[in-house]
Amino acid sequence: MFLLEARGVGVRYGGVLALDGVTCGVDAGEIAAIIGPNGAGKTTLLNAISGLTPLQDGQVLFEGRDLAPHAPHRRARLGLARTLQGVDLFEGLTVRENLLLTARISESSRRPGTATTPVTERVTAAAGFLSVEDELERQVTDLPGGRQRLVDIAVALCLRPRCLLLDEPAAGAGPSESAALGRLLLRIREVLGLGILLVEHDVQLVLDIADYIYVLDFGRLIAEGTPAEIRRDPVVIAAYLGREAGEAVPAVAAVPAPAAPRPGPRPPGPEWGSDEAIRGGGGAPR
Ligand SMILES: Nc1ncnc2c1ncn2[C@@H]1O[C@H](COP(=O)(O)OP(=O)(O)O)[C@@H](O)[C@H]1O
Ligand SMILES: [Mg+2]
Repeated sequence: MFLLEARGVGVRYGGVLALDGVTCGVDAGEIAAIIGPNGAGKTTLLNAISGLTPLQDGQVLFEGRDLAPHAPHRRARLGLARTLQGVDLFEGLTVRENLLLTARISESSRRPGTATTPVTERVTAAAGFLSVEDELERQVTDLPGGRQRLVDIAVALCLRPRCLLLDEPAAGAGPSESAALGRLLLRIREVLGLGILLVEHDVQLVLDIADYIYVLDFGRLIAEGTPAEIRRDPVVIAAYLGREAGEAVPAVAAVPAPAAPRPGPRPPGPEWGSDEAIRGGGGAPR
């Protein structure tokens, strides 16, 4: 059973079939990525999963539970946090205030009797995971776009999610900024054991860090597999990789090398907000 699973999801906007029978999933402790050209339906899929867009078909399951009856804020409370395409922070507040506000909201909906660390410590840890601890007292609007996107992910972490949905977190980033983001996401996956569903335009980043990749085109899945499989999938190369990456189309191996299998779920990480998680947050690589 996946941590988060979309089964045969269909979404229609008027006459446009934005998603057509899409099935995908992410395990705990795994980064699953969704790539595809503009208009492929990637954001629509995240909206369908988080409850912002109604489904015409199919189901979304989180920890085996059908999310249909749950509004977006309930889904967040169940442990499903997301960032929107573009940054979505409270302007006029500092980084610390943005994080604190979210941590307090999440704290106010905590189940009684469940132990947690103080919100201030959770804020420090989230800032550490995203390497924005030196910018805590700055106004978010004074930060460059790339730093704001990291704060955006730190805000999502303050909800203590078990699964993180990210919509193009590397948009506008250069190669080194994008690689740095990749290292931070790997660390979050490793230390907290979260499932991460990553929608990303930066194919290189996805090939570098994802455990499993889904390729969407015109609302349909045209391929899925490990990065090694996706790299040499002729359908993907023809439809997407070669043209989007702006690189020479890689030759398809005559004899496919045996691909590493999908890793499968990892043991759960520490309770997010626990002392162990907070220690893990310090000194994240830049
Ligand atoms: N709110 C909406 N109303 C009507 N059409 C939409 C809406 N949102 C997205 N679409 C259409 O659905 C398709 C998928 O869009 P989207 O999910 O944003 O793609 P992606 O994120 O992959 O670029 C596109 O054809 C887009 O024009
Ligand atoms: Mg999009």
